[in-house]
Amino acid sequence: MKGIGVGVIGTGFMGKAHSVAYSGSASVFGTGLRPRLEIVCDLSPKRASQRATDLGFSRYTSSWQDVVNDPEVKLVSVCTPNDTHAEIAIAALKLGKSVWCEKPMSSNLPDSKKMLAASKKSKGKTIIGYNYTKNPAVLHARELIETGVIGDVAGFFCRYDVDNEADKKRPWSWRMSRKASGTGANGDILSHVISVAHFLVGSTISKVVGDINIVHLKRKDPTNRKQTKTVDNDDMISALIHFQNGVHGHIGASRVTWGKKCGLTWEVHGTEGTIIFDQERLNEIKLFTRQKKKSTDGFRTILTGPDHPFYKSFLPNGGHSLGFMDVKMCELQMLLFAIEHDTETWPNFESGYEVEKVMDAVDRSALSGKWIKI
Ligand SMILES: NC(=O)c1ccc[n+]([C@@H]2O[C@H](COP(=O)([O-])OP(=O)(O)OC[C@H]3O[C@@H](n4cnc5c(N)ncnc54)[C@H](O)[C@@H]3O)[C@@H](O)[C@H]2O)c1
Repeated sequence: MKGIGVGVIGTGFMGKAHSVAYSGSASVFGTGLRPRLEIVCDLSPKRASQRATDLGFSRYTSSWQDVVNDPEVKLVSVCTPNDTHAEIAIAALKLGKSVWCEKPMSSNLPDSKKMLAASKKSKGKTIIGYNYTKNPAVLHARELIETGVIGDVAGFFCRYDVDNEADKKRPWSWRMSRKASGTGANGDILSHVISVAHFLVGSTISKVVGDINIVHLKRKDPTNRKQTKTVDNDDMISALIHFQNGVHGHIGASRVTWGKKCGLTWEVHGTEGTIIFDQERLNEIKLFTRQKKKSTDGFRTILTGPDHPFYKSFLPNGGHSLGFMDVKMCELQMLLFAIEHDTETWPNFESGYEVEKVMDAVDRSALSGKWIKI
């Protein structure tokens, strides 16, 4: 089995998820490329050292340049706040390294465009962390759509609501700043919705009219609890959408919806049936197709199992359920396969940039109140 040296930059939620995927992928998939955990980076040497021990890396640093320039590292994970993605990813791509970049691609469209240009000039492969398109249940839904099981797609409807910031007492964070994060719920979670939209409908969104709302304008400053900081990006966002292929729909996201933990829900309405999904029950889809007798009409629940993409590498029996970290491993598997066999991933920086264009258009449309063509 060949190896590939990997480096992870940023060791929060996503840095851990990438590291767990690197540790487990060869055991699960028997991949031809076994990741070697070379070097991990976080802002302080103390944190980086602790995370290297926790996550199993050989070395650590507090400078991302050390990771990118490390001769042993051929694949770089970018798991830092959004405004750092472009600089790190472009530097890695210039050295011909592959990049697993967390979503959104960056904090603004011009930076994402530069990332796209760098990826086109590089021999490195890219993938963006739109993991909800790697779930076996969602991959199966796409197969059903592609093979016409629900007829022609007529409508796509999707929301992603969470209560991460619902408590107004939660302090300000980089996610609430246009400078560090770009948009709010838009880049953080609507970006996932748009990736799912493009993936399932098989066409890109061509026209939007958006709306945004900041519910909690002031939050406690985490460095000085006596002061507040201004939230200048969206808590809630919605848009009506048209796709290139004529499908219509609507999308939305909120980071302040009490009770929703990972409320990514979507419906694909076809001319002959409907498929619905709820990420809080990520191991199932509900399928409606017409029956000969109306009395037996109804949605069927399909539980994921070894007949669905990726699943049997994890478990021999259906209904045992995969989780978020497993799906992240599926995402990595697609990237490792692409590196090994010189194939493409989805979404690479090219298809990821299509997502960014929609996010930017929804944001501009919400500010102008007008439909925007993409
Ligand atoms: N794919 C998903 O489902 C998903 C989920 C959550 C977050 N994300 C994305 O992942 C990225 C990171 O989010 P997170 O939730 O892991 O954030 P986090 O705050 O948990 O972790 C970020 C880490 O990066 C470190 N860091 C910040 N700047 C750095 C720098 N210049 N060099 C090195 N380390 C630095 C921080 O110290 C922290 O440890 C964001 O782009 C976010 O949008 C994706």
